[in-house]
Amino acid sequence: MTVEIRIQDDDSLEITGDLELIDAEGNAYKQHGKIRLCRCGASRTKPFCDDTHVQVNFESKVRA
Ligand code: FES
Repeated sequence: MTVEIRIQDDDSLEITGDLELIDAEGNAYKQHGKIRLCRCGASRTKPFCDDTHVQVNFESKVRA
């Protein structure tokens, strides 16, 4: 299955597909479906987005 990574304006990275998320200590977590990873650095549930980017007025519009 293809993994899709969508960079959302002023928001998180939305990742869809079956994947393995590996933290800095090498711990692996299987993920299925859709997850959102924090880009703003303010989430209280890192590495996942908890919508805190709205409160901190995160702005980023990345274009490939
Ligand atoms: S991008 Fe959503 S909390 Fe950081």
